[in-house]
Amino acid sequence: METALELIGDELKQVEQQFKKDLASDVPLIRKVGEYVLASGGKRIRPALLLLSAKLCEYRGDRHVPLASVIEFIHTATLLHDDVVDNANIRRGIASANTLWGNEASVLVGDFLFSKSFSLMVADGDLNVLRVLSGATTMIAEGEVLQLVCTSDLSLTEERYIEVVKCKTAVLISAACQAGAILGKVSSELEQDLSEFGMQLGIAFQLMDDVLDYAANQAEFGKSIGHDLEEGKITLPLIHTLQLCTADERERIGEIVTAEELSDDDFQFVFDAVHRYGGIEFTVSRAREYISRAKQALESFSPSPVKSALVELSDYVVTRQR
Ligand code: IPE
Ligand code: IPE
Ligand code: MG
Ligand code: MG
Repeated sequence: METALELIGDELKQVEQQFKKDLASDVPLIRKVGEYVLASGGKRIRPALLLLSAKLCEYRGDRHVPLASVIEFIHTATLLHDDVVDNANIRRGIASANTLWGNEASVLVGDFLFSKSFSLMVADGDLNVLRVLSGATTMIAEGEVLQLVCTSDLSLTEERYIEVVKCKTAVLISAACQAGAILGKVSSELEQDLSEFGMQLGIAFQLMDDVLDYAANQAEFGKSIGHDLEEGKITLPLIHTLQLCTADERERIGEIVTAEELSDDDFQFVFDAVHRYGGIEFTVSRAREYISRAKQALESFSPSPVKSALVELSDYVVTRQR
């Protein structure tokens, strides 16, 4: 990440200031919840990708900072809603907004951030950016609903799971990269390349999130370990395990993913199985495959420090611990 920070550190600081301005509202609870979440220290991957993509495409104007702020607004809105849906209590190492202010406030402030994002995009005035980002938000909603209907479904295949991952996570990361390309007014081929780069990177990003949910250090990860299992979410480490385990083990896993409350034994049983059948290694190796496809998508761009930063960021995705 160092190369990236050297290149866009100043702009990322401006993005932080822009958020604060964009959060302005006469309703104090909106500012309170919004500032709490925005100040809690996310990785800012999506704004960083928009800024780097714009730089790669030699964009020289001043629309990149507000648009990077919009991307983080959209991401924050999805997190507020996602934590309600997932019953999550910790986010970024501290109490999630729904834990502190309740589900109602989280949903409504998430709605505010979504609607505000659209006003900000209209103010920017570029229909192409609006098309890409509004398409992305629609697909995130579809992805979250798809995920909901796949809850506890032991027959979920890897292919279908990747479809969910594309919608709920990768599309927004892809849109961030594509928006940078649109700003730089590059050819539609290069715009497509950057969109593809973000899509492949985004899939790997979510697969590593799934791995960390089984294998991270909770303090470093900043979210509860084992939470996907607790919520009956079948992610790739478990899909792989289900393909290899015995009929008895499958039956027990089936009971566990549908149970209301999980005992320590239940967690241990599934964690052991996932580790024994190589679910972690399998998912990491899949993530690496997506990362190498992401890098391939950048082939048409000639070597430059900005391109190196994007490559470095891709490598970070498969080594990250939070
Ligand atoms: C969390 O995204 C949601 C996923 C798509 C896995 P990030 O891991 O980018 O969250 P922050 O913004 O850094 O907290
Ligand atoms: C991330 O899904 C997708 C969105 C937030 C839209 P997760 O549910 O896996 O993300 P975390 O683990 O809560 O960050
Ligand atoms: Mg979640
Ligand atoms: Mg997760």
